[in-house]
Amino acid sequence: GGSSQPAPSNSSSGGEKSGGAGNIEETTIAVGHATSDSETSHYQAYAAKFKELVEKNTDGKVKVEIHPNGELGGEREMIEAVQLGTLDATITSSGPVGNFAPLSNAFDFPFLFRDKPHAYKVLDGELGDEVNKQLESVGIKNLAWAENGFRNMTNSKHPIIKPEDLKGIKIRTMENKIHLDSFKEYGAAPTPMAFTELFTSMQQGVVDGQENPLSVIVPNKFYEVQKYMTLSGHFYSPAPFLFSKSKFDGFSPELQKIVEDAAKAARDYEREFIANLEEKYIQTAKDNGMEVLTASEYDQEAFRKASEPVYKKYEAEYGEFVKKILDTK
Ligand code: PAF
Repeated sequence: GGSSQPAPSNSSSGGEKSGGAGNIEETTIAVGHATSDSETSHYQAYAAKFKELVEKNTDGKVKVEIHPNGELGGEREMIEAVQLGTLDATITSSGPVGNFAPLSNAFDFPFLFRDKPHAYKVLDGELGDEVNKQLESVGIKNLAWAENGFRNMTNSKHPIIKPEDLKGIKIRTMENKIHLDSFKEYGAAPTPMAFTELFTSMQQGVVDGQENPLSVIVPNKFYEVQKYMTLSGHFYSPAPFLFSKSKFDGFSPELQKIVEDAAKAARDYEREFIANLEEKYIQTAKDNGMEVLTASEYDQEAFRKASEPVYKKYEAEYGEFVKKILDTK
């Protein structure tokens, strides 16, 4: 008889169809980011994919609100808000993350990642998890390492081929001590600054240059205030998707899984989104008057040499972890 039938694994008390979102609580997830909401913007693409998946997989019970353009503050401020639980989530560069979980700084060394597959292997594996644990211990849950990208130098003065060309150039860096020290070693005059202040600072000549991935430089129209770009790729910039731990811990296990899966799927989507736009970004920069030097047209070897003192300075703090990154094949 029917009484010996096992219960359907997806049965829900609300009598919804199996596999539906019957047990999912209604809630809203606010996601902030500091960059543009244009259709070529990588963080906007990430946030939009996350929103699409979460809303679909919860039958609309969970709403995701996206706050782009730094309207909720700069990245350091948004991470603080996530930690306090006044903001639910943010997709951010790793730049300010080391101020919350010091081990994250190990990802920020110059010329550390050989290429994108190397970065993905490290970030999606045990080493990325180690940093995630440190973040979790301060109330922040990293649900995925998405991508900001390899960073490139731009400025309004002249082409940058070798470190000497940076002499006297006022360059904005992120609020990150490894990045700051690197540009000091290259001979530039670096100033750490929140991204939200950057465009105006370039426009007014407070800084001459900056460094960011193409996925930031082009959608944010830096070509309006910067003439020269070198595809230097000197830092690889990961983009963790940081979630308030208290908010996440309050979710039902079903919703936790939906949110985690959506965060990882959005990561894969966003990495591909960037790769597909790479050529177009470069073309758009040129079409808008930028002079672009490719990776083979600048002296990477000289920059690598000039970076050595930074590795030495932080040997005691990060040397062991950095070695593990370099040894990841
Ligand atoms: O330069 C920065 O601060 C970051 O790379 C940015 C553009 C905010 C993206 O995370």
